[in-house]
Amino acid sequence: MTAESVLEETFSSISPAEFFYRNKQMAGFSNPTQAVYTVVRELVENSLDACDTARQFPDVQVSVSNPVSDEVVITVSDNGTGVPHEQVPDAFGRILYGSKYSSRQRRGTFGLGVTMAVLYGQITTDSAALIHTRPTNNEGREYRVLIDVQKNEPIVDSVQAKPRETPGTTVTIHMRGDSLRSRERIIEYLRLSAVGTPHAQILVNITDDFKDSFGPYDELLPPLPQDNKPHPRSADVELLRRIIKSSPTKSLEELLVNSFQQLGRKRASKILNFLNFSSRTNVSNLSRKEVALLSDGLRKFDGFGRPDSSCLSPIGKESFVKSVQASTNSEIIDYACTDPSDCDGFPFIIEAVLATGEMFPTGKVPSLYRFANRVPLLYDPTEDVFSKVIRQLNWTRYGLDSGMRVAVYLHFCSTRVPYKAAGKQSIASACNISEEALTLLRYLGRSLRKRVRTKRNAGRAERRMRKFESYFETIIESAASLADIDHFPDSAHMVKSLFEVE
Ligand SMILES: Nc1ncnc2c1ncn2[C@@H]1O[C@H](COP(=O)(O)OP(=O)(O)OP(=O)(O)O)[C@@H](O)[C@H]1O
Ligand SMILES: [Mg+2]
Repeated sequence: MTAESVLEETFSSISPAEFFYRNKQMAGFSNPTQAVYTVVRELVENSLDACDTARQFPDVQVSVSNPVSDEVVITVSDNGTGVPHEQVPDAFGRILYGSKYSSRQRRGTFGLGVTMAVLYGQITTDSAALIHTRPTNNEGREYRVLIDVQKNEPIVDSVQAKPRETPGTTVTIHMRGDSLRSRERIIEYLRLSAVGTPHAQILVNITDDFKDSFGPYDELLPPLPQDNKPHPRSADVELLRRIIKSSPTKSLEELLVNSFQQLGRKRASKILNFLNFSSRTNVSNLSRKEVALLSDGLRKFDGFGRPDSSCLSPIGKESFVKSVQASTNSEIIDYACTDPSDCDGFPFIIEAVLATGEMFPTGKVPSLYRFANRVPLLYDPTEDVFSKVIRQLNWTRYGLDSGMRVAVYLHFCSTRVPYKAAGKQSIASACNISEEALTLLRYLGRSLRKRVRTKRNAGRAERRMRKFESYFETIIESAASLADIDHFPDSAHMVKSLFEVE
């Protein structure tokens, strides 16, 4: 081989916007149908988060129109916090920028959703996103925002004052997409969103031929989850180093006690003793090796309490049962919820409702409706931990026969949902999530078996009673004619009381 024929690699770096521009499918934009669904989903998610923060009962309006053949216009409007004016360009025009990187449960996670919608609209129709927002105590303004993809920077095309009666935000995206094919998914998504957020009302208008309203199913505003300190089990080397950097003058013991939950002085000094550290060591004197040792010790110590779960917002028994029942007209069999557990120090709870009703399909396994942080997950079911776990159980053992219509609604809530991809469609089988889900489903399986047995026994008693009733009537009639009376006592009532059947 001659020297001239050797190819030389060219190295460069790309911005996050450029990365997602090249890998749209990773964020839920695989095809025109999924793209429309994803934009609706991301906008609605943001609206519901903004209403939670504003402590408002969500009033979310979704409109999907189709002005030109394959061009779709999606508008979502809410009565949430609004967006501070100085934040609008970055929040909508910079990928991986957001206000939800803190440690309480929210629907949004990455700082990617709406910016991906803006990017997709821009690259498919060359249109700017329209953001009309009014933050509390401020005026309404309308922005037209685009993204400089190579630099990952916002471009504000125009901004003008536009009054808005109450605080909130309306986002409009023009994009290429298939509104017809995405229609059923969008309707299903919105219907289930109202189940996951039972205090929300969601109005929808799809191309003027489908108009409906979902929820509210409950009048209770759930408490706002709290931002908590990290759990020591989440203290990897990077986190420890950041904490040390933010308080370089502290002693080791002070740092641990002030920065983590579940770590009082007694426990901190026990761990430090065990690891041969002095409690009084100044943290800025720690070497890289010592920081790694400390991180390892914290992650392996098994005497910590479970993480504080006040940062989570489960739907709760009453609201979850109400929303499932009202949205499906079904009969609830049971509700169950795991104790708070944690995945690498991040708390999680799984809650579930088991229901039976005409609208669910029949099958050997109950139909599964998945939720993560109150958001319904509709795509990638086969990849999901819950889909795998539900199939591990033999439901016939729990009395399910193929003619029955049973469904399980499973809600995973956590400050860090281990999504399998940036599109947030399926949950990975991390830590002990499978085991916890399995325990929960077994419990529900037993409830199902109890229900099936009670129904079966009631059916048997009823059949016996009917037979007895017919004999009893003949006996009464014969006895009455022998006694020569023409007034018969009420045999049905007597039989029912004998069999204790209503
Ligand atoms: N309707 C809205 N009301 C108030 N703030 C909003 C609204 N839509 C977007 N924002 C702000 O814009 C930020 C960026 O939104 P984006 O959807 O890109 O990310 P995210 O919601 O933080 O996370 P995710 O990528 O998981 O959706 C949000 O963090 C929020 O602060
Ligand atoms: Mg979002």
